Amino acid sequence: MTFWEQLWTTKPTAANAADNELRPALGPWALTALGVGAIVGTGIFVLTGVAAANNAGPALAVSFVIAGFVCAMAALCYAEFAAMIPVAGSAYSYSYATLGELIAWFIGWNLVLEYLVSISAVAAGWSGYVVSLLKHIGLTIPDAFAKAPLAKGVGAVSVVATGDIINLPAIFIVLAITALCYVGIKHSSTVNIWIVIVKLTVILLFIVFGLHYIVPEHWHPFVPNRICSAAGATGNMCRPGKYGWMGVFEGAAIIFFAYIGFDAVSTAAQEAKNPKRDMPISIIASLVICTALYIVVSLVLTGIVRYTRLNVPDPVAFGIEQVPTLRNWLAPLIDVGALAGLSSVILVVMIGQPRIFYVMSRDGLLPPAFGRVHPRFQTPHVATVITGIVAAIGAGLLPIDILAELTNIGTLLAFLVVCIAVQVLRHTHPELSRPFRVPYPWITCTIGAIGCVVLILSLPHSTWWRAVIWTLIGLVIYFGYGFRHSRLRKGKVQLARPAERWKAKSTRPNDKTGP
Ligand code: ALA
Repeated sequence: MTFWEQLWTTKPTAANAADNELRPALGPWALTALGVGAIVGTGIFVLTGVAAANNAGPALAVSFVIAGFVCAMAALCYAEFAAMIPVAGSAYSYSYATLGELIAWFIGWNLVLEYLVSISAVAAGWSGYVVSLLKHIGLTIPDAFAKAPLAKGVGAVSVVATGDIINLPAIFIVLAITALCYVGIKHSSTVNIWIVIVKLTVILLFIVFGLHYIVPEHWHPFVPNRICSAAGATGNMCRPGKYGWMGVFEGAAIIFFAYIGFDAVSTAAQEAKNPKRDMPISIIASLVICTALYIVVSLVLTGIVRYTRLNVPDPVAFGIEQVPTLRNWLAPLIDVGALAGLSSVILVVMIGQPRIFYVMSRDGLLPPAFGRVHPRFQTPHVATVITGIVAAIGAGLLPIDILAELTNIGTLLAFLVVCIAVQVLRHTHPELSRPFRVPYPWITCTIGAIGCVVLILSLPHSTWWRAVIWTLIGLVIYFGYGFRHSRLRKGKVQLARPAERWKAKSTRPNDKTGP
């Protein structure tokens, strides 16, 4: 094989599917709860305020519709792959089977953005709510120790010092959950359902009580006029800037973060009782539930408080604090619900990232340490510790907007490739069994891919540059290590051995993080 051909070697789907020994136990309710549990987090509890104040104004509700629609298209594509190649590794494994090793590496590297960086982002959101809760019980953490010392600068990728020292609560939650994952926390479907109930209850309380305090004038103008920043003052479509219809799309690109996590449903495909029926139902149901909640929450929030005031770390609690009769009892409840919800999102993602490292390491694309399993706890402990330390550093130093935008661009790139890969595999391997098929694939996959590109283009230029730098680092690692150690290229890919089965089994949400 030529060098060029080697880059596009695909991993046989049989080698992937051989890992599937899971018991199909999840019905549509459990799958939908899994989706809602992984989805609802910092996006709704924190970024709603940021995106309303900085991008879309009250029209943030429209941003949620746009982002939700793009996610729904991509989610259907995920579901086809997840049911066809039901293994750990998510989009990385799908692209390895279809588009070749180089693209698989690119996707795996971007999944690090989606998973690892989102841990930092959600932890930064957690920090905002813990500070808010402590304030309600009379304890104050000084800003210097509860906020990121870095913020976005003016230049392409520049950051500036804020004067704060470190975000200690964010570091604390990342390290605490890392420790749980190290010893193999049992994250059961039942615990997940309870956390989902707590999260949804506080959101519903916010909506029901908040509705009475909406000031309709706060919604006018619904789409505020675009304001160009000094650097981009060249007319109505200027970038950088905020508001206007462009701001609605920019808002969609930011709060896209709020939908990340539905692939938790896709990756549970191998455990679905009836994947053909339940996968699309659960994915679409969890997206519809979340979209409906997000739209109503953003309307109520921007109705209670003028959007310009919402750029705070705890906007949902902040909204309630503006109402004297609700301030003392509902705001702390919202803090508690948000903290429970955000913790569970961090836990789910912290279980997922080491698994992706594990699969990549077993494929030879990362050093063997990433695939090492703890002899006693039976967890991928090295990958877990690396994930935890890097995520804690990100959470302690970087602001939530940089973290969320990086997560979004990595995820959107992965979604884009998945949308394309569905079509590619339909042509290259039409014979494969597809328990679930994307309806009208030409339309669904094409709209999904275009939607991802539109959202990527709507992200700030600085995020593109950060993604380019990330990709270049990834390519250096691939050609420096992965290309030379790839087991597939060395002809060493085997069907699953018993020792490797845990990785598939442990993707079960009701399983331990180890075998
Ligand atoms: N969708 C998840 C959240 O909003 C990542 O926290």
